[in-house]
Amino acid sequence: MRKDTPISYDEVQKQIKELNLEDVGRASIREIKRLIDNVEEATGDKYVRMEMGIPGLPAAEIGVEGEIEALRSGVAATYPDIDGIKPLKNEIARFVKLFMNTDVSPRACIPTVGSMQGSFAAFLTTSRMYPGKETILFLDPGFPVHKQQCRVLGIPHDSFDVYNYRGEKLREKLESHLKNGNVAGLLYSNPNNPSWICFTEKELKIIGELATKYNVTVMEDLAYFGMDFRQDFSKPGVPPYQPSVSQYTDNYILFISSSKLFSYAGQRVGMMIISDKLFETRAEGLCRYYNSDMFGRAMVFGTVYALSAGTCHSAQYALLAMLKAANEGKFNFWEPVKEYGEKAKIMKKMFTDNGFKIVYDKDEDLPLADGFFFTISYPGMSGVELIEKFVYYGISAISLAITGSERTEGLRACVSLVSRDQFPDLEYRLKKFHEHYPVG
Ligand SMILES: Cc1ncc(COP(=O)(O)O)c(C=O)c1O
Repeated sequence: MRKDTPISYDEVQKQIKELNLEDVGRASIREIKRLIDNVEEATGDKYVRMEMGIPGLPAAEIGVEGEIEALRSGVAATYPDIDGIKPLKNEIARFVKLFMNTDVSPRACIPTVGSMQGSFAAFLTTSRMYPGKETILFLDPGFPVHKQQCRVLGIPHDSFDVYNYRGEKLREKLESHLKNGNVAGLLYSNPNNPSWICFTEKELKIIGELATKYNVTVMEDLAYFGMDFRQDFSKPGVPPYQPSVSQYTDNYILFISSSKLFSYAGQRVGMMIISDKLFETRAEGLCRYYNSDMFGRAMVFGTVYALSAGTCHSAQYALLAMLKAANEGKFNFWEPVKEYGEKAKIMKKMFTDNGFKIVYDKDEDLPLADGFFFTISYPGMSGVELIEKFVYYGISAISLAITGSERTEGLRACVSLVSRDQFPDLEYRLKKFHEHYPVG
């Protein structure tokens, strides 16, 4: 390994020894974070940190104000309804209509403690409907914590990487997993964490049709709602709408997170939206665990009650204020987050100009959107090697191997914490890397 690296080679080696990290390329995200924190402290050099998927913007002011007002009015003293405060439920249903063109009843719109609680509750409840039909299928790559939720719950899960199955090819592949009859639900994120692929209408239609055919609940994770910046989804009641499987099946649960859309991650408030058809569905298997065989009742009075007895009262008022402003066209929440897409465009070019490849680069025949994440690889290097080398070049990212991707040569880069004034450093470091490891 070259020793004339942008970050002091000796200092990095010293810090690796102090942390007893035998294999940096295979270290956990938290270990890498610790190593980089320590090197930064020892050298005063700042890394281009692309490992953590956290918002890099201030929380939406409308939410903060709404929440403070609610706290001052005394909501902290009382329990909120388990399935959410009424005005919020109405506003969620309105949001789904105005920005997705999907009709849902307010009663099936449930605030959750982050969208993570929504997926936990959905895995738990859907897998108990029909004995023998318990598996959760992940359309990978994906967010590793979802699989951890299944493991914690003891729910079997299955997955495949969609990389080679885009467009019409998705049908046969998906059907091969569903026809065994053991899949209760399937989950994907759209736009996708980590690859930023967005399913096309054709693909969503295939997913919807097969979900109906095999009675499988589609769990659509919209953590990055409206952030496919190739189109403008920000006008309420006006097409284009956020693409969704809800146009193609009535067997779905949607998760909309406030963490990235409103930069409201700290308050842990998200939305779970259940289709009316699924809400009403009766399944005998539920009676083994709940007082009702009706899905919606089991979800609210069984699962959500048992998990947290509802969602933070004041945070619900924050969400209410933000959604109301969006629904009334008074605040365009996508305007600030567009910065992620603009930064991604510049950063991707810096990587590709220096020999890197974008791993997931197309939605069928369309170039990928620029957004919160992108994926990179370097010719002739594994993802493990790349992470290890990056530490000496002042760059950090995570391996795609932990996301269920078969492209283990790839890394996920997150743009949110990289500020524009770090771009010259990034460019210099990538140039050095390219110079030290010339391609073919
Ligand atoms: C795909 C995906 N789903 C869910 C979440 C978590 O959302 P929340 O903060 O609302 O629990 C994230 C956050 O990074 C995510 O990337």
